[in-house]
Amino acid sequence: MGINNVAVIGAGTMGSGIAQVAATAGCSVLLYDAYPQALERAAMQLKNTFSKLVEKGKYSNAEAQSILNRITFVNALNTLKNVELVIEAIVENLEVKRKLFAELETIVTPHCILASNTSSLSMASIAASVKTSGRVVGIHFFNPAPLMALVEVIPAVQTRTDVLELAVSTIQSWKKTVAVAKDTPGFIVNRVARPFYSEALRIYEEGIADFSTIDHAMKSLGGFKMGPFELMDFIGNDVNYAVTESVFSAFYFDPRYKPAFTQKRLTEAGFLGRKSGRGYYNYAEGAQKTDPSTDEALLNSIFNRILIMLINEAADACHLGVASAHDIDQAMQKGVNYPKGLLAWADERGIAQCVNEIDKLYEEYHEDRYRCSVLLRKLARNNQRFFS
Ligand SMILES: NC(=O)c1ccc[n+]([C@@H]2O[C@H](COP(=O)([O-])OP(=O)(O)OC[C@H]3O[C@@H](n4cnc5c(N)ncnc54)[C@H](O)[C@@H]3O)[C@@H](O)[C@H]2O)c1
Repeated sequence: MGINNVAVIGAGTMGSGIAQVAATAGCSVLLYDAYPQALERAAMQLKNTFSKLVEKGKYSNAEAQSILNRITFVNALNTLKNVELVIEAIVENLEVKRKLFAELETIVTPHCILASNTSSLSMASIAASVKTSGRVVGIHFFNPAPLMALVEVIPAVQTRTDVLELAVSTIQSWKKTVAVAKDTPGFIVNRVARPFYSEALRIYEEGIADFSTIDHAMKSLGGFKMGPFELMDFIGNDVNYAVTESVFSAFYFDPRYKPAFTQKRLTEAGFLGRKSGRGYYNYAEGAQKTDPSTDEALLNSIFNRILIMLINEAADACHLGVASAHDIDQAMQKGVNYPKGLLAWADERGIAQCVNEIDKLYEEYHEDRYRCSVLLRKLARNNQRFFS
């Protein structure tokens, strides 16, 4: 018995994408927004998206039309009273979300699952805003939702097992890969990916290499599709900095997640990246990128340093039960397109070698940021791997 009637609240970037995914999977979707302009924009964008998909031959006209017909744009919350699943994708503000959930509880049936697409807020706090908190769960899509295969499903401490199971099977039936994550800051992807940005920024701030050299090292030696600075410019420095700051404070200011002044200053200056025409790189017409260094030893040391920090973070997330080794690896490949799972990469390089590399950084800096995950140390001591 699957879920057929879904509501998505918030018709912005994520909400319209999630509505598209659910409708494509055959569900009837009510897409609600508090602002009529947002609904009009979403309706227009979805129509354009499907015209393009028809042009590309992905759907026939009739198929596209029937998917679009399954999405109804609504501007009154009480129209949601018969849905089986609500996915909230409104502004990332705990109080606003809690208020909405409390109101939703008075509208929907007792069986309706209430989900949030939050990327950084505590699911336990969101769940606590309703009396029947066992039906609340995190369902975290990645941007753009129709294209990214991964969805993190996050049970709060209050979430009932049957609700978690139904959330997982529903999202799988929408042809997405599910990784179940503990309700901890950044869940899997937004936590494990932090060193990709922060270690790159640190290497730059220490004057070891420039942006294009660091990007080149990660692409040419690691097979990453974009380098850290290209990716931050793509995401937007304001958005990326805000996530880093929120993860840093949520972890009680653990130095491992410390934000970088370089990114703060660019954000303050309005150098947000592609969207503002300038970030780490200049996107003005005719602007030239500096050529990366070709010094192989330098490129290798940059790549090894960023990769070992990513592996260490993934190992620690595994050690602390944020998710299984398998789910962590899958999440990084399907949520942010990493070329390989980080823990499989650790196995390939050799766990003892990983411990050695991170310990060398610690010996050099004596900063807590470079502490080796206990799990890596234990595996190395017992001559074990993450995957057999
Ligand atoms: N953008 C991303 O890359 C991304 C990725 C994963 C998760 N998220 C999360 O998804 C959520 C939405 O993000 P987004 O980027 O789509 O934002 P957005 O600004 O594009 O869209 C938010 C929509 O919510 C509507 N809204 C705001 N307050 C509302 C309310 N009280 N009731 C009803 N509608 C309301 C707005 O009119 C807007 O249309 C956030 O929690 C965000 O953290 C975003």
